[in-house]
Amino acid sequence: MKRAKIIGTGSYLPERVLTNADWEKMVETSDEWIVARTGIRERHVAAPNQATSDLVVEAAKNAITDANIDPGEIDMMIVGTITPDTAYPSTANWVQKKLGLRPIPSFDISAACSGFLYSLITANSFIVSGLAKKILVAGAECMTKVMNWEDRNTAVLFGDGAGAVVLTDTIEEKGILSSYWGADGNLGELLMQPAGGSAMPASLETVQKKLHTVQMKGNEVFKHAVLRMQEAAMKALEGAGMSGSDIDIYIPHQANIRIIEATIKRAKIPLEKTIVNIDKIANVSAGTIPIALDQGRKDGRIKDGANVLLSSFGAGFTWAGIVLRF
Ligand code: ACO
Repeated sequence: MKRAKIIGTGSYLPERVLTNADWEKMVETSDEWIVARTGIRERHVAAPNQATSDLVVEAAKNAITDANIDPGEIDMMIVGTITPDTAYPSTANWVQKKLGLRPIPSFDISAACSGFLYSLITANSFIVSGLAKKILVAGAECMTKVMNWEDRNTAVLFGDGAGAVVLTDTIEEKGILSSYWGADGNLGELLMQPAGGSAMPASLETVQKKLHTVQMKGNEVFKHAVLRMQEAAMKALEGAGMSGSDIDIYIPHQANIRIIEATIKRAKIPLEKTIVNIDKIANVSAGTIPIALDQGRKDGRIKDGANVLLSSFGAGFTWAGIVLRF
């Protein structure tokens, strides 16, 4: 059976690092509160002249080099993001221009923190159907550009960055072995960016009220996040005919260390097998998982043949789980 296999990974984090101590100087918060409630210690912040496509370009260059392919071989590109450069064209189109790629189909997927997994599942189906052979898939965000820097409830939670992978078709027992995804639009209002779209076009009032930034009912989102992250992980394992003990590395989406701890307990995966990067990069939404994948590959934790579980939860609400083998 044909499936998609990862042959290269890359990531990019902007240079500027903002620590919890820096946040203590800007809003009424403390390093102690942020670490205890979330596990976050620092995050990267994009420069004013860096858009999401600029972060993707750097991550994609690394992934293409790692895959050892000619960029001309790429026949599709998908970017998971909720912080596109522009409402249109898509971020993927800007990346295509900046990387000088052929006129291949390229598009964005909007699924918040599940954006990278939604993009991987979509890419896999194009490869399985034979419509594409080599796909560049990225997850990237400039969350700091859409958050309210005066709101301690949300501002301390997010960071910027990008991760990318190159997929190719294979008939080996490698690549994406199972996937599971879902969404529930009924709960969308618990986590959203209300203004700037057709429902509430940008106006002086929306800007003054900061309605173009992240609005989240954190503790209500938390309850759903725990349940759906567990469901996504367990269903992906079930689809692959595996249990937690078959997994060599688990990469969860990282919104909060307490959500990760609850999920690994349910899936019976030890913390040592879980890649945690929330302390260093905070919640990078669609960027979190591909950045961790690249970090795990480059530091040797993800070895050839490793069974890797990915799971995510985000605004929408959206959730997804994937089991893949390197
Ligand atoms: N520093 C100090 N105090 C704070 C801060 C802060 N940065 N932020 C909030 N507080 C206060 C609140 O004002 C509140 O005070 P009060 O009791 O006097 O009203 C108190 O801390 C507790 O607030 P809660 O919101 O109940 O805190 P909670 O323990 O739920 O933690 C958090 C908040 C971290 C946001 C948590 O709810 C969470 O992680 N939620 C899930 C986030 C998530 O999964 N998002 C999905 C992905 S993101 C995406 O898709 C873009």
